[in-house]
Amino acid sequence: MEEYKGITTARVSGVATVTIDEVACTGCGLCVTVCRGAPLYLESGKVHVDQARLYGCIGCGQCAAVCPQGCIMVEGRDLHPDDLIPLPPPASGAAYDQLSALLLSRRSVRDFRSRPVAREDIDRVLAAVSTAPMGIPPTDVSVLVFDGFDKVQALAGGLLAFMQRIRWFLSPTACALMRPFIGKEAVTTFREFLGPAIDVFLEKRAEGVDWLTYGAPLAMYFYTSPFSDPVDPLVAATYAVVAAQSLGLGSCMLGLPAYCFRYSKHLRDQYGIPDKSQHGILVIFGHPAVTYRRAIRRRLAAVTFV
Ligand SMILES: Cc1cc2nc3c(=O)[nH]c(=O)nc-3n(C[C@H](O)[C@H](O)[C@H](O)COP(=O)(O)O)c2cc1C
Repeated sequence: MEEYKGITTARVSGVATVTIDEVACTGCGLCVTVCRGAPLYLESGKVHVDQARLYGCIGCGQCAAVCPQGCIMVEGRDLHPDDLIPLPPPASGAAYDQLSALLLSRRSVRDFRSRPVAREDIDRVLAAVSTAPMGIPPTDVSVLVFDGFDKVQALAGGLLAFMQRIRWFLSPTACALMRPFIGKEAVTTFREFLGPAIDVFLEKRAEGVDWLTYGAPLAMYFYTSPFSDPVDPLVAATYAVVAAQSLGLGSCMLGLPAYCFRYSKHLRDQYGIPDKSQHGILVIFGHPAVTYRRAIRRRLAAVTFV
């Protein structure tokens, strides 16, 4: 069998180093239980490290996080010994009811005050995002921060210029020609949603109204490398949205900009997004200009217990 040594991502390759304080280790085996990389194993009541097993240490840090003695140190793959920090006391965490209240009161906000988002709040959102799970550690998710109305407007201008150039692509004739290749569903979405969306963005822009990024004072674009799971940016963006809500900020995910970044090398170059990046997601933030008085009950497409 081929010998695996770590999992390569855009940022790292090879394995992280696991050091176990053999004197302090009681051989309880909890670290072995949680290790899925899977270099840790128990033998003769002691934990051993064999980096040739499966992937070797991928630097997830779970062994060090679970060890009752605190006697495991993992270093490498962007993990440092001092990244193992005390757990917040359980009482300081949100219970389900609190989390549910936060989630229920979140709306996609498209009306913002002109007030900028404080740098401290931006940092808190990013700190929350950094706790998100990822397909393979360390995360390859990068965030482009457009801090300030002018920067978001410059982005919107670039996105709209690109949309204007490709608008013909969504015309009924182009859609009819493309249908055998891209399928009925994509053509329907192009015709019913994307085409009219671009038209209204452009019309409103000409009137001096921003219907693309809604005059937001802050935007973040979440994207990732070809090595990672394609949904990593969405998971990160979801954390950002929830964190923003907890800070009293409104937010809205915007799906279209990612297509612009995907198909426009000019835009990627302008913002330093690597060409091979996967499809990302833009999120806008700001202080809400409207107050929602009710929550909305929603239903999933299906819930099937198999
Ligand atoms: C992946 C994704 C892409 C979205 N793209 C847009 C968008 O381009 N423009 C927009 O106004 N809202 C966008 N939204 C927000 C949705 O329209 C919104 O979530 C939906 O209408 C439900 O409203 P709520 O978030 O207030 O529950 C997007 C949401 C998601 C999850």
